[in-house]
Amino acid sequence: MSTKTITTTPFSDQKPGTSGLRKSVTVFQKPHYLENFVQSIFDSLEGVQGKTLVLGGDGRFFNRQAIQVILKMAAANGIGRILVGKGGIMSTPAASAIIRQYKAFGGIVLSASHNPGGPDGDFGIKYNITNGGPAPEKITDAIFAKSKVIDSYKIFETADINLDKLSIARIGEMAVEVIDPVEPYARLMESLFDFASIRKLLQSDFRICIDSMHAVTGTYAKDIFEKSLGAPAGTVQNGIPLEDFGGGHPDPNLVYAHDLVEVLFGDNAPDFGAASDGDGDRNMILGNHFFVTPSDSLAVLTANATLVPGYKDGLSGVARSMPTSEAVDRVAKKLGIDCYETPTGWKFFGNLLDADRATLCGEESFGTGSNHVREKDGLWAVLFWLNILAVTGKSVEEIVKDHWKIYGRNFYSRHDYEAVASEPAMELMDRLRSMTVELPGKQFGNYTVDYADDFSYTDPVDGSVSKKQGIRIGFTDGSRIVFRLSGTGTKGATLRVYIESYEPDASKHDVETQVGLKPLIDLAEEIALIRQFTQREEPTVIT
Ligand code: G1P
Ligand code: ZN
Repeated sequence: MSTKTITTTPFSDQKPGTSGLRKSVTVFQKPHYLENFVQSIFDSLEGVQGKTLVLGGDGRFFNRQAIQVILKMAAANGIGRILVGKGGIMSTPAASAIIRQYKAFGGIVLSASHNPGGPDGDFGIKYNITNGGPAPEKITDAIFAKSKVIDSYKIFETADINLDKLSIARIGEMAVEVIDPVEPYARLMESLFDFASIRKLLQSDFRICIDSMHAVTGTYAKDIFEKSLGAPAGTVQNGIPLEDFGGGHPDPNLVYAHDLVEVLFGDNAPDFGAASDGDGDRNMILGNHFFVTPSDSLAVLTANATLVPGYKDGLSGVARSMPTSEAVDRVAKKLGIDCYETPTGWKFFGNLLDADRATLCGEESFGTGSNHVREKDGLWAVLFWLNILAVTGKSVEEIVKDHWKIYGRNFYSRHDYEAVASEPAMELMDRLRSMTVELPGKQFGNYTVDYADDFSYTDPVDGSVSKKQGIRIGFTDGSRIVFRLSGTGTKGATLRVYIESYEPDASKHDVETQVGLKPLIDLAEEIALIRQFTQREEPTVIT
């Protein structure tokens, strides 16, 4: 039992500017690949010696092996204590909560979020800082720089730790505490929401169905909804976390969460349904035969926040990512609070939350959260909705339609062209970028371009500037089309087209989304020549 220094050669290919490393499992299994990245993390953390780190992941294939490696490397690198989730499990929001509650130095989170898992699936690793949020660019750039020049790593050679029993063990000088990954998180939820009212609702004839998609929230949802809130056994479906997510794609949208969609749009449908993704930070909310867009969800939570104990005193502000619909902007305006538009990616909310400029945040990509942690939080959003439903006694559909009556409806949809060839996709974006100068004032049928730009964001807290965050084309009637390339895809390029229109007239709200947006969808094609550049006749995923 001793520390070994192993010689290695650098080959890390982390994308600069991304908060972690996400690759296929087979890449992570290459000799020294994981170790290089982990050593680069430790080398980039000033003052981590003797401190506490949190460690856990979404339970996907390679999670357990990676945890054993990281524990041994942490011991060899002088870490004082590691809190690791039992079974190696920790949802991303729970990891954030645990880092904060234990005032840990930081944490290592293992997940490829909503990407498929298993031997042929994806794996990922990222570092979160003391506030519980993803490491800022300063740290990720340092990790990236290290990983390019690394020539050795340190690992303590010893037997594996038993991860399946709550215990305190030692590797060399370092303490390893195997902790319950659910309890601290469940306690936090209980402090924010009116559990008594939700319990009453769930024990009435109000029926809910939670789909954990065989991913990490199974462990959390069963404990919170069935055990603590008294929902009937079986309320949580696909609730056993599996290393390959049962072969599914653990992304809670209308396409991949089809099991849940069938239940909520089937005969005898329950009143409420929700799904979450691989690592538990995303959520999809459904009512009986009703889909709530994530953009509307953020707007509804904002409008009703004071009904929830944790937010009863109101919100300091709200923030949404640029492509997220402007529905929440209208609520913020009415409430007289600030609304921030940030680039895509949760990390941009961190400063606003830390500075208490925003209390709630959301992204159109099924991400919603608040200042209770520094990650988006799927089950938090579900509990927020249930709290609102319990207090108002309304159905999901009533809540949303009443909301539209007050604020108008933002029709919204995202069209993804996944795994298209990278070069033409970049050409499409370059072409649009060059068009932004000439587009304003141009007329396309009923639409007149109001503005066009490549979104640039100046962080109001630290002044940092993020450029080239996506092409926005705004029209004079409040409609928008946004184009950007995904930063998380692992194959080729993924083009995302976000389409939004605004309808104040309640008598026109009952139109099917894709029908309502058809003229703008056609306009997106006319302006961007999507078919020509992607060689695709239609999007892969429409949400
Ligand atoms: C996607 C989503 C984005 C989210 C990110 C991580 O990124 O669009 O909102 O923050 O996943 O969950 P993208 O692939 O679009 O870069
Ligand atoms: Zn996720």
